[in-house]
Amino acid sequence: MSDSESTQIGDYRTSHIERGENYDRNLAKDPFDAYMCDMERVHLQRILPQLFPDGIARYLDFACGTARITHTVAPFARETIGVDLSPSMLAAARQRCPGVRFVEADLTRAAIDLGTFDLATAFRFFGNAQPTLRQQVLQVLADLVRPEGYLVLNNHRNPRSLAALFHRLTGGKPEMDLTHHALQQLLAKHGFQVVNSLPIGAWLYRSRMLGQVRTVDGGSLRREAMFGHRFLAPVAPDTILVARRRA
Ligand SMILES: C[S@@+](CC[C@H](N)C(=O)[O-])C[C@H]1O[C@@H](n2cnc3c(N)ncnc32)[C@H](O)[C@@H]1O
Repeated sequence: MSDSESTQIGDYRTSHIERGENYDRNLAKDPFDAYMCDMERVHLQRILPQLFPDGIARYLDFACGTARITHTVAPFARETIGVDLSPSMLAAARQRCPGVRFVEADLTRAAIDLGTFDLATAFRFFGNAQPTLRQQVLQVLADLVRPEGYLVLNNHRNPRSLAALFHRLTGGKPEMDLTHHALQQLLAKHGFQVVNSLPIGAWLYRSRMLGQVRTVDGGSLRREAMFGHRFLAPVAPDTILVARRRA
């Protein structure tokens, strides 16, 4: 399977230090990355007004990178903060969202008082990060998201997706390790209950299809609706999870 990001080797913290200049271009070049970006935007724009009918008071985009997700969510929020440790990713983020406050920090290593948030997002992070970093970040996010607030995140590296299973059956080497079930358990361990799962691309059952998918159109939206039931999240290549912080 293709992915323009790093593999899960070493410390994920260092993975994007110098990638800010090319990150968005690389995502746009890969058909499935571009498709996931489009579908993530479609889902977020639909679910956020349902979760926050009165708007979001305080929103944190953790590991915001170049503000791909910040840019979609900030219009629903009265205050937005993006945090990332990569200066080059943040330089691109500041250009994309000039009105947003971006903080260069690794919150797992430096305590910065940002207050608490009604919503945090963390996209394209957990699937890539090494297990210890996933745990450290969830500990931090559990303190930053207020009780009954939401953490909306994704797992775009599901090793049990149909496409990944076919890939392995046909001799491909195993890639990442974070299954849908494992992520749910990790969230539960840190006080987050998954209240919804939105699978993306569950109908793409061969890894070859991921490289051929076109940008989102009427046909793909219909297929996503048909294969969008949360029970298909365990076999989808990408899933958005909506998790509520326990009271
Ligand atoms: C693949 S990018 C995702 C960017 C953005 N969320 C998106 O979905 O396009 C992963 C980001 O995680 C950041 N990152 C890794 N470890 C981090 C940490 N401990 N604290 C903050 N950011 C971190 C990297 O610098 C990188 O910008």
